Amino acid sequence: MSLIGDWKERTLFRRYHRYHVPNEGRRPDQPPIQWPNSLAALLERMDTIDLRSDTVTRPTERMREAARGAAVGDDVYGEDPTVNELERRAAEAVGTEAALYVPSGTMGNQIAVRVHTERGDEVVLDRESHVYRWELGGPSQLSGVQPRPVDAGERCVPTPEQVREAHVPESLHRPGTGLLALENTHNYRGGVAVPRERVAAAAEAARALDVPVPLDGARLFNAAVALDVPASELAAPVDSVLFCLSKGLGAPVGSVLAGPEEFVEEARRVRKLFGGGMRQAGLIAAPGLKALDSVDRLAEDHENAALLADALDDVDGVQAPQPDTNIVVVDTSERDLTAEGFVEACEERGVLAGAFDEHTTRFCTHRDVSRSDVEDAIERIRAVLAE
Ligand SMILES: Cc1ncc(COP(=O)(O)O)c(C=O)c1O
Repeated sequence: MSLIGDWKERTLFRRYHRYHVPNEGRRPDQPPIQWPNSLAALLERMDTIDLRSDTVTRPTERMREAARGAAVGDDVYGEDPTVNELERRAAEAVGTEAALYVPSGTMGNQIAVRVHTERGDEVVLDRESHVYRWELGGPSQLSGVQPRPVDAGERCVPTPEQVREAHVPESLHRPGTGLLALENTHNYRGGVAVPRERVAAAAEAARALDVPVPLDGARLFNAAVALDVPASELAAPVDSVLFCLSKGLGAPVGSVLAGPEEFVEEARRVRKLFGGGMRQAGLIAAPGLKALDSVDRLAEDHENAALLADALDDVDGVQAPQPDTNIVVVDTSERDLTAEGFVEACEERGVLAGAFDEHTTRFCTHRDVSRSDVEDAIERIRAVLAE
């Protein structure tokens, strides 16, 4: 059985990620992918505009300097002053008692599932959520829980009715619902900034059933900037919150899982269990502190994404709805142009994007692409669509 799913999904996954591992899947008897096809060569082309993800940013000079000068200690002993400072600042930013530095968003999400649930519980989540769709079935593999996906549609989080309908009480025959997992911004549904009220309504319905609610806020600060509210307000209705330093905020490594003291204490144990206890991690946490200083500039990425969507939506047979944040989802089904074909044609013109689904392609703006880069990308993508 495959880890990812059927062949189609696997192909899309490869397409989406293949630049990270250009020789992935190569048999020993096959020659390695050579210039000009490999990503390395593409990225060496000075004019390549990389819109695959906001994870592709390189650390700034300030981040590199911060890493160089970071005070460090053994973080598993709780003795790394830079990590401690990052955790303090992160908790403050999202309005929680405590926070934990973790190597990745995926690990943070999986720790949250493990801490909040008991083995065998059901987990209610949106069928397009990252934790369900893109984390290798982690909840089942790592926490022994059973996902119960619902279709949250354009709302991105289940309605209170959906929460109540999906809930199963524990009995001799039923496992019982142990978690409602939410996401904001919602990646796969197009970087949607979910308003606080919607999150609060779902969380209240869950709380009435005694079900805890973690929030995957990998891009929580994008949501906060787009909705013009503090991140702490968006995190207030839930029981724990994850956010990534290594996406729009531009740090090279790391995410933060935050919540009440007691939750974070247990999360620290589970991080160790999952192999995420790090030692002199101040070296990578120091750039994270710089990243936390740069929240306001996310507005620039959102403006660039809006510009891109506007320009592409103008093209006949192409749908690119106005995004809330930095993710532009382009639908080329009317033209019968597959996402794979579109991504390949864009790549030939030096614009990198990700195939999301059969006819949807994701373009993601970030700190390393300027407005003029985006204008340039628009010209090139329009040329592809004019062919
Ligand atoms: C919504 C969401 N959650 C979690 C993650 C996982 O983060 P990481 O790549 O750091 O594991 C991602 C990554 O793209 C994401 O988009």
